[in-house]
Amino acid sequence: MKEQLQEIKKRAEKEIKSTDEFAKLKEIQVKYLGKKGEITQVLRSMGKLSKEDRPFIGKLANQVKDEITEIIDKRKEYLEDLEKDKRYISERIDVTLPGIKPVISQLHPLTLIMNEIKEIFLGMGFTIADGPEIETDYYNFEALNIPKEHPARDMQDSFYITEEILLRTHTSPVQIRTMERVAPEVPLRIIAPGKVYRRDDDATHSPMFHQVEGFAVDKEISMGDLKGTLLTFARQMFGKDLQIRLRPSFFPFTEPSAEVDISCVICRGDGCRVCGQTGWMEILGAGMIHPRVLEISGYDPEKVTGYAFGMGVERIAMLKYSMDDLRLFFTNDLRMLEQF
Ligand code: DAH
Repeated sequence: MKEQLQEIKKRAEKEIKSTDEFAKLKEIQVKYLGKKGEITQVLRSMGKLSKEDRPFIGKLANQVKDEITEIIDKRKEYLEDLEKDKRYISERIDVTLPGIKPVISQLHPLTLIMNEIKEIFLGMGFTIADGPEIETDYYNFEALNIPKEHPARDMQDSFYITEEILLRTHTSPVQIRTMERVAPEVPLRIIAPGKVYRRDDDATHSPMFHQVEGFAVDKEISMGDLKGTLLTFARQMFGKDLQIRLRPSFFPFTEPSAEVDISCVICRGDGCRVCGQTGWMEILGAGMIHPRVLEISGYDPEKVTGYAFGMGVERIAMLKYSMDDLRLFFTNDLRMLEQF
């Protein structure tokens, strides 16, 4: 029986040490130490032994039982450690790895320029007004002294929704809408920034672009006020040493009208390739609000006068950032957009 017990122990030890699973370990425990286990069976069959042998074998059986229990516990501990190690490896974080830089967004260059333009005029006491992008023929053309057959309409070919409703081709209709609302009160000093639409598409024209309209109505507003305002704007936008000049021009809604140039932002007036050797760059249209436009909006042109101007925001941005293709603003190329 002694040999039998030793043999059981050997077998049990071998089985225990060759298993990697907790479930299997439990099975082995039951197989050897359980109620119907091999050791228990040995203990049960001790009745067959002589009185002298019984205590010795009993002791030995209990010893083997303890030894097997110990081997099982050790194996269990070993398997638990193994499992922990595996978890540590799989969950390991290298805190010295470089972090992932979050993408931080920024304002679009046109929004930056638009904000800058607004800031400058707000600083001079202007207020911002808004108007619809879907506009009527009346506000977009008629009230601005551009009747149906007027050739000036050719320059602003638009997207028509119906015969009388279109996408506005300029921000000038906001002049009429604002004056109608406020007249006959003065003074009025307004800028109207926003999107406008034309059937145009090339390197310097886009079907959708942005303008900022500006106008003032008061007693005794003169062309001098217009020039002073635009000079202040141009210098804040492009630099203190800048000059502006007004060239006679024509717009149906202003009289007299002018094309306004700034001294070239590249050569500062000496003449270079960018300004076509003239030293000047055109930035906007302007003039004194036509008496008929004042009248149609509710003002008495005998009592008040006004000036108006309109500039293209893309054009200002292209000059400021030395860009030669306006389409870059709308192609969403991050290589370009991230430079601002
Ligand atoms: N509305 C004109 C255009 O889009 C620009 C313009 C010219 C606006 C003269 C004005 C102005 O207010 O006085 O071509």
